[in-house]
Amino acid sequence: MNGGASRGGGRAPGRPVGEITRGTTGHNRLRRADRWTAAVYRPLLVSAERPLVVDLGYGASHVTTTELFIRLRRVRPDVEVVGIEIDRARVAAARPYERPGLSFALGGFELPVDRPPLIVRAFNVLRQYGEGQAWEAWDLLRSRLAPGGAIIEGTCSEIGHRAAWVALDARGPRTVTLSARLTGFERPSDLAERLPKTLIHRNVPGERVHGFLRDFDHAWALAAPYGAYGLRQRWMAAVAHLARSWPVALTPPLGGRRRWRLGEVTLPWAALAPDSRPSA
Ligand SMILES: C[S@@+](CC[C@H](N)C(=O)[O-])C[C@H]1O[C@@H](n2cnc3c(N)ncnc32)[C@H](O)[C@@H]1O
Repeated sequence: MNGGASRGGGRAPGRPVGEITRGTTGHNRLRRADRWTAAVYRPLLVSAERPLVVDLGYGASHVTTTELFIRLRRVRPDVEVVGIEIDRARVAAARPYERPGLSFALGGFELPVDRPPLIVRAFNVLRQYGEGQAWEAWDLLRSRLAPGGAIIEGTCSEIGHRAAWVALDARGPRTVTLSARLTGFERPSDLAERLPKTLIHRNVPGERVHGFLRDFDHAWALAAPYGAYGLRQRWMAAVAHLARSWPVALTPPLGGRRRWRLGEVTLPWAALAPDSRPSA
């Protein structure tokens, strides 16, 4: 059964905006971002009228969209989730998994849904575009949001142990989050390979994101003695040290020990942003 929020039986009028890219995905791969989304946007989800969430570019299987649906339904039992894919065959493969409130539709960055989405999640989608194209996709997605809505755009490793994402609202990018399984890296800068498209090419000397990762590695080294109490204690000590020189989010919902103990750290976008935006 179609959950009802996709338009015209899932067919966008005109050609979907974007390109078909590799469909790699997997069970639980986006758990870190799902958990963050459910916590950070809980007030938004709970208070919205008929909240609609889009999972853009869900890939070769329905699984990450279904997992997002299950996790967000714990927060808001009537939330509707639509998985949007630009590959027609992937939409056909996901359709048998539709259920009330969960549907799959053909489309692209134009988001062919029946009302503005409250949240758009796009993971491992923009990495396969150019840096300028990624900025343009952000612009288009932002213009589609419901009032107060948000986009979570990010990248993760194959099984999701290393992830990074940017949260945006209608005005632009607001925050950057790094999230890692604490046994999944040697030093925090190992997460650089998972930076979103708009940051990954900026990990060079002179750019803010490069300076941040350098300082995070330094803080991680200084926090080594805490490793005796476990990697979680070491991560929290490193983040606390980092917070002396970087505007790390310190209080909920974005920061504080409860988030840090999960292997997360969030900063304002401006702290890591490139000075200039490339042309598409
Ligand atoms: C690597 S898969 C990611 C799957 C899933 N989001 C994940 O992280 O596990 C990327 C998917 O995005 C789709 N895609 C790329 N550009 C798109 C666009 N503009 N609109 C919708 N889907 C798109 C591709 O067809 C591909 O299936």
